[in-house]
Amino acid sequence: MEQKKGLIQKWFGRKNGRGSAKSVNYMSAKEIRQISRENRRITDEFERVRNRENVPESEYTAVMKDPGNILEIEDLNTWFFTDIGTVKAVDGVTFSVPRGKTVGVVGESGCGKSVTALSIMQLVQRPQGQVVKGELRFATDDLTIDLVRIPTEKMQKIRGNEISMIFQEPMTSLNPVFKVGMQIDEVIALHNEGMKSEEVKARTIEMIKLVGIANAEGVYDMYPHELSGGMRQRAMIAMALACTPKLIIADEPTTALDVTIQAQIMDLLRQLKERINSSIMLITHDLGVIAEMADYVVVMYAGRIVEQGTAAEVFHHPSHPYTVGLMASRPSRIRSAEQLYSIPGSVPNPIDMPNYCYFRDRCNRAFEACNGDYPPTFSISGTHSAACYHYSAVSEVGK
Ligand SMILES: Nc1ncnc2c1ncn2[C@@H]1O[C@H](COP(=O)(O)OP(=O)(O)O)[C@@H](O)[C@H]1O
Ligand code: SF4
Ligand SMILES: [Mg+2]
Repeated sequence: MEQKKGLIQKWFGRKNGRGSAKSVNYMSAKEIRQISRENRRITDEFERVRNRENVPESEYTAVMKDPGNILEIEDLNTWFFTDIGTVKAVDGVTFSVPRGKTVGVVGESGCGKSVTALSIMQLVQRPQGQVVKGELRFATDDLTIDLVRIPTEKMQKIRGNEISMIFQEPMTSLNPVFKVGMQIDEVIALHNEGMKSEEVKARTIEMIKLVGIANAEGVYDMYPHELSGGMRQRAMIAMALACTPKLIIADEPTTALDVTIQAQIMDLLRQLKERINSSIMLITHDLGVIAEMADYVVVMYAGRIVEQGTAAEVFHHPSHPYTVGLMASRPSRIRSAEQLYSIPGSVPNPIDMPNYCYFRDRCNRAFEACNGDYPPTFSISGTHSAACYHYSAVSEVGK
């Protein structure tokens, strides 16, 4: 831990860290080589810490701040050490997923939603991608563990068993060369040692039926390519939920599907969640999807949370100008496609983030205070907060 802290301090001190005025367009080959060498040194050190054997349990156990939560994300920083500089894909993210609730995570493409999810699953692309700071506290039945520090082989037991992830593209989970039924069997058998093969198959068929596939026995013997997109997504959900996980992370689960199938899959997720009594972290760039499902909403922009609150707070009183923009760009029955608003400008270069509010250059409410440092998070109510100087009259979170 101490070692890691030392590394980060060194990193903050380095020339091409945040706030560097140097444009990535003007880097010489020598500079790129230098960065690449330094990156290797830093990531090797993270890997060395990660690959230690016999890590004592005390290093990766934690205490939940609120026992009502299944997951608490605190100051998560996940960075990619690339040859042209560091991408702070997730930069100090803090939020919780309460038991039995759905938390929607929303934001434009590239704002760090998937990297947050992959950090929870320990699936960030290593060695260049590393969780450099923060805690991911997850409550298992008997103990709370820190998913950042739990050794990889122990994480394998959590993944798919206690936490499952549903991806946008089902083929990232389904293997094209094996029959669908066999793949679900494998997951069930892996997590239920000693279960007889007939029992496993019966459970698989039950799962296939549960996700709304009519011809379950037939689909059991099919290859993924023989199914339609919607059916494949259902098969992947069956596989993800086969072990009744406590937390389901759904990363844009319906983006590739047409609207009718989207609604069906969302209904299905909602029903299954109730049935197995789990919690959902639902990631999407589409506020419409979240409106139907979420109890709480987290809005991300350029690797940071800019607003969070209950769904009612965020939908009825969107506070951060970025959230207001997202709401206005949402299609609705009363707005035709031509009237759709789109937030002007684009997200700043992730390697060279400004030292003021990341949204300022696109913000239509910017005022003098916005020329200062990146705004702290201000609390609007007990559950609602926004990182915007317009709320500086209310109290700063944590102060
Ligand atoms: N393997 C990687 N190497 C370098 N940068 C990455 C990698 N994966 C993601 N990123 C960067 O991290 C940022 C966040 O990405 P992501 O979490 O995938 O966004 P989204 O909100 O669309 O899911 C983006 O700037 C992306 O380019
Ligand atoms: S802090 Fe200023 S620039 Fe940033 S979102 Fe708020 S008003 Fe806009
Ligand atoms: Mg994504």
